[in-house]
Amino acid sequence: MSVRATSPRFRSDFGDPCEKLAASGSTNFRPQRGALVDLDGKPDYVGRMTFVVTDNCKGCRFTDCVAVCPVECFHGDDEMLYIDPEECIDCGACVPECPVEAIYDEAQLPDDKSQWLQINADRAKDLPVVAEKGDPLPGAEERKEELGF
Ligand code: SF4
Ligand code: F3S
Repeated sequence: MSVRATSPRFRSDFGDPCEKLAASGSTNFRPQRGALVDLDGKPDYVGRMTFVVTDNCKGCRFTDCVAVCPVECFHGDDEMLYIDPEECIDCGACVPECPVEAIYDEAQLPDDKSQWLQINADRAKDLPVVAEKGDPLPGAEERKEELGF
């Protein structure tokens, strides 16, 4: 038998993510699915999901997404950002912030973008956290227009 429980990281390391989300004004909040934990205390992460940054971010890097993330799980290189799947709490707050719709729920990744799930996991672990909004990359507005936004 399993019960829902909030992960210890969710509670202790980042204050109250719900408060930060409320302050962001996001209307896209979905409650954390939470880890499933057996009553004997053994973790069972069957329900764990993540969000994924895809190729539309490349060359844009608008960083509006990081300003609303309650757990600082975005990492970046000079071209784009990546979400650490170990840290993402699956809240969805970042999705409507991206001006080029680069972020997907992993469950809704289009087939032609499925490779980005692994790319995010691989790249995020080697790159620094990006937690503050910065300037977009030079040429970002032109790329945004090319992408049809
Ligand atoms: Fe929420 Fe997006 Fe941050 Fe994941 S990356 S915790 S979905 S704001
Ligand atoms: Fe990239 Fe969109 Fe964030 S362009 S940096 S995913 S706001």
